[in-house]
Amino acid sequence: MTHILHIDTSPRLERSHSRSLAREFLEQWKQHHPEATVTYRDLALNPVPYIDETWVRAKFTPEDDYTPELENAIALSDQLVDEFLAADRYVLSAPMYNFSIPAVLKSYIDYIVRPRRTFAVTQNGFQGLVTDRKMLLVQARGSDFRPGSAYDAVNFQEPYLKTVFGFIGITDIETINANGLNIELRDREIAAAKSTIQTLAATW
Ligand SMILES: Cc1cc2nc3c(=O)[nH]c(=O)nc-3n(C[C@H](O)[C@H](O)[C@H](O)COP(=O)(O)O)c2cc1C
Repeated sequence: MTHILHIDTSPRLERSHSRSLAREFLEQWKQHHPEATVTYRDLALNPVPYIDETWVRAKFTPEDDYTPELENAIALSDQLVDEFLAADRYVLSAPMYNFSIPAVLKSYIDYIVRPRRTFAVTQNGFQGLVTDRKMLLVQARGSDFRPGSAYDAVNFQEPYLKTVFGFIGITDIETINANGLNIELRDREIAAAKSTIQTLAATW
């Protein structure tokens, strides 16, 4: 049975475009998959703390060698990884912030990209362990970052998210993007995003 992990990251709540587009997608998608289950995580309302020195030591220590201090430091990360691995699909909504992603999302990513749990170090290099999964990125941007636009080359949001989730094994990644939400493109982009939602809700 399909199990979705739905993650919102915008600090804006009712006024957030990324949240409302992701919600609209899931409402439509669930009509096609009534049996699916969803776990919801709100990183803006429940941010994870920044990692610290003890956390980093725990990350690079084999579990058998954990002290109570290291075990305690890595406990939340373990819970988040368990939750992440329990899903086979991800719906992640994110605003573009300063050409990339909100800090709460970066902090979450630091918690779930873990050796031995979500990636392995092999003789042939790194290997993602989160395979056979799909992700949908719902991205909102104030300016025009459409492919071919003047800002396209400095979009560190989508390329970063695709790279880091690809690193842990998630390579099947679809996108719903709304660009130019603070300029005259806004209505056209929201309409285009809603049209993509309809198509993807029936096919994803
Ligand atoms: C701190 C901050 C940084 C932002 N940086 C960018 C940016 O680099 N590029 C851009 O196009 N829009 C930027 N924006 C605008 C947001 O991406 C835009 O308002 C988007 O709709 C926010 O997502 P939300 O509607 O889901 O909250 C920024 C907004 C804030 C508050």
